[in-house]
Amino acid sequence: MNGKELQDITQWLINYPERFRGEDGSLHRMHELKRDHSRRVAGYCRFIAFEIGWGPGRVNMAEAIGWLHDVGRFPQWDEFGTFYDPSSIDHGAKGREVIESERVLDFLPEGRRKVILDSVILHNRREIPESTDPSSLPFTRLIRDADKLDIFDLVYGHLEAGTIRKLLPGISTDKAASAPLLEEIAIDGRASYHNVKTVPDFLLTQVTWVSNINYAPTFRCISENHLIERLRRYLPSKNSGIDRILDSAIRRVAEGCAG
Ligand SMILES: [Fe+2]
Repeated sequence: MNGKELQDITQWLINYPERFRGEDGSLHRMHELKRDHSRRVAGYCRFIAFEIGWGPGRVNMAEAIGWLHDVGRFPQWDEFGTFYDPSSIDHGAKGREVIESERVLDFLPEGRRKVILDSVILHNRREIPESTDPSSLPFTRLIRDADKLDIFDLVYGHLEAGTIRKLLPGISTDKAASAPLLEEIAIDGRASYHNVKTVPDFLLTQVTWVSNINYAPTFRCISENHLIERLRRYLPSKNSGIDRILDSAIRRVAEGCAG
């Protein structure tokens, strides 16, 4: 993808939320947040792609996917007033629908279009399906890494500002981690959202993401910013289950940095 093509896609995404402005001309804060998130994820995509040695065309493709990956969020918020997929729509699938119906990628050859659409659809799946086209795989893995880095930033911003509960409407005020969640993580290192009842549960779920990171530069970002260590402050202390989860995540990050 050349620079002009990337520029066109970027501009399209920046303009797209404009159509959701209310009658008073204001853009919903959630739409603004998503546009900012898309910009930052695009930056992370570019960073990771560059660091792993991709050429300029692939770096541009990666950045374009970063801009587009959450485009389904805009109509999702507009129609349902939530970003919670289980009670609304799969925002990855919706993203594909928007990109196709708006013909955003019509100027690209079929192969590249497919890579971008696959990455958008698969960025939010629990697992990348085994049937995924090999040419889409590296990009799908990359957007999933970049997205996680920005979510870490977002969560820290809220933790430090003391506003984390705003991010998690409906979550319990209990300060403990839930036993079923700790058990689930102890079994296979994974956590499912239906077991997330408290803020510590949510933070531990984030910690388990490190077993799902794909590229060394992403691990390095997590390591250099001490993202896991810093979470300790916001989790119950003297809980051996939690300590084990954190320690194993820190080890996994160190291994990942080594590539
Ligand atoms: Fe997303």
